[in-house]
Amino acid sequence: MRRIALANQKGGVAKTTTAVNLGACLAELGKKVLLIDLDPQANLSSWFGIKQEDLERSIYDVLIGETKIEEVLKDSKVKGLWLAPSTVELAGAERVLANEAGREIVLKKKLASLAESYDYILLDCPPSLGLITVNALTASREVFIPVETKILALNGLVTLVSTINLVKKKLNPLLEVTGIIPCMYDGRTNLSREVLEQLRARFGSKVFRTVIRENVRLAECPISCLPIHLYAPGSPGAQDYMNLALEVVLTEKQTDENSRPQE
Ligand SMILES: Nc1ncnc2c1ncn2[C@@H]1O[C@H](COP(=O)(O)OP(=O)(O)OP(=O)(O)O)[C@@H](O)[C@H]1O
Ligand SMILES: [Mg+2]
Repeated sequence: MRRIALANQKGGVAKTTTAVNLGACLAELGKKVLLIDLDPQANLSSWFGIKQEDLERSIYDVLIGETKIEEVLKDSKVKGLWLAPSTVELAGAERVLANEAGREIVLKKKLASLAESYDYILLDCPPSLGLITVNALTASREVFIPVETKILALNGLVTLVSTINLVKKKLNPLLEVTGIIPCMYDGRTNLSREVLEQLRARFGSKVFRTVIRENVRLAECPISCLPIHLYAPGSPGAQDYMNLALEVVLTEKQTDENSRPQE
C-alpha cells in the first residue's frame, strides 16, 4: 500500500484536481484507492457530490474523536475508488488538537486499521503547513507536490521541502518526496516552459515526465461530480492524468523495494 500526501502550502496549484483525477485513473487501472479530504474547504468531497449537510460524520470526527476511519468512508461512481470526506468543521481541528500529546500522529494512528485494504491512499492537504498538513506528512510514506507552472514559485517549494525534511527528521524518517507534478502547463508561453525547465534543473528525476496541461475541461469537471476520464474522455486533462497514473504505477516496484527493509 502506498500512502501519498498531495501537499503544497500554496493555494490553487491543483492538489485537489490531482487527488481526484490521479486517484480515479489509478482505480481505472484496477487499483483500490482511498482519497482522504483533509481540507476544510472540502473541495474534494463536493467534487463527488457530497453535501455537507447530509454528512453525519467526517474526517473531523476521526481526527478529534473516537470515530474510526472506516465509519466515514463513501464509495464513488468509479469502481475501486473510495473517499473520506471533510467538512468546514475541520477548520477547528487544529485548535482542538493543539493541546493534545502526540497531536502530530493522530491521523497515522487512525489509518493503521486500514492496514493493507488499499493499494493507494491519497491525502489531499489544505493550503497551509499547519497541524493537519503535518499529520498528513506523518501518516504518509511519500509526498507528491503539484506545482503550478504558470508562476515561478521555487521559494515556496524550498519552504515546503524544509518542512517535509523537518517532519522526516522528527516524526517520520521514511518520508520522501517521490514526485513533483507540473500542473496547468501552457506550452505556448515562455513562462510555463521556463518554470518546467527550472523545476527539472532543481529537482531532476523527482519531476514526473508527465506534465498536466492547462485544460478548461478540468476546471469545469467538479460541477459534473465526476472525474475527468468520465466527464470528458479523450480530453487533454483525461489523457494527462491517465499518463500520470501509468507513470505512478511504474514506480510501484521501486517504492516497494525502498520500503521493504524498514517495515
Ligand atoms: N490543468 C488544469 N487546467 C485548468 N484548470 C485547472 C487545472 N488544474 C486545476 N485547475 C483549476 O485550478 C483551480 C485550483 O485547482 P485545485 O482546487 O485543484 O487546487 P488546490 O491546490 O487544491 O487549491 P487549494 O489550495 O485551494 O486547495 C480550480 O479552479 C481547478 O479547476
Ligand atoms: Mg484543494
